[in-house]
Amino acid sequence: MQSILVLFAHPKFEHSKTNKALVSKIQNREGVTFHDLYELYPDFNIDLQREKELLTKHDVIIWHHPFYWYNCPPLMKQWIDVVLEFNWAYGPQGNALENKKCLNVITTGGAREVYCTSGNNHYSVNEFLRPFEQTARLCGMEYLPPFAVMGTHKITTEDLELHTHQYERLIDALQQGKTFDITKHCEFLNDTQLINQTPKK
Ligand SMILES: Cc1cc2nc3c(=O)[nH]c(=O)nc-3n(C[C@H](O)[C@H](O)[C@H](O)COP(=O)(O)O)c2cc1C
Repeated sequence: MQSILVLFAHPKFEHSKTNKALVSKIQNREGVTFHDLYELYPDFNIDLQREKELLTKHDVIIWHHPFYWYNCPPLMKQWIDVVLEFNWAYGPQGNALENKKCLNVITTGGAREVYCTSGNNHYSVNEFLRPFEQTARLCGMEYLPPFAVMGTHKITTEDLELHTHQYERLIDALQQGKTFDITKHCEFLNDTQLINQTPKK
């Protein structure tokens, strides 16, 4: 079984609706380490050694966060700046993360339709996430398309249930080391067959 590290960053988790639901089903699962960065490091003082040890122990790294100003919340960026050290994560002797899988799990207030050339946000989510993709690649990781729950401002209870179930299925598939049916047209893991199935009643 592949081990999964969920690096979670939500500055206002106590007011969260969408992420609270998503997290509820995966945080206590066997083989998943749920690592709440704002809970652990409210002062932004990240324990580098602890983070490196955690990364080393896991096969799959998930950056899970709400989309804030087309990016991650600041503590997640701080984590990237501090933890992904030269000659450890990248550079001539930096191979600690090589061949691990990595992806973003995000929630956006904006609906899917507004994240395109003709929409209000002009660019796709995948384009906004390019720095994460390239960061993962520079560290020798395999970057997967994101899992995104979009349009959270108007999300219905049914949709939230569906996405929560899909997130569980995504974790299942990652734990089992399954290969996703990703084509060059696949923008989101949400669309892949492995996890895009109707919820069990
Ligand atoms: C400071 C801030 C910035 C935000 N920026 C964006 C954004 O750039 N794009 C977007 O679609 N939604 C944006 N949102 C909306 C959040 O992504 C949305 O409220 C969140 O994903 C909902 O998840 P939650 O219920 O777990 O908080 C922003 C919200 C806040 C508070």
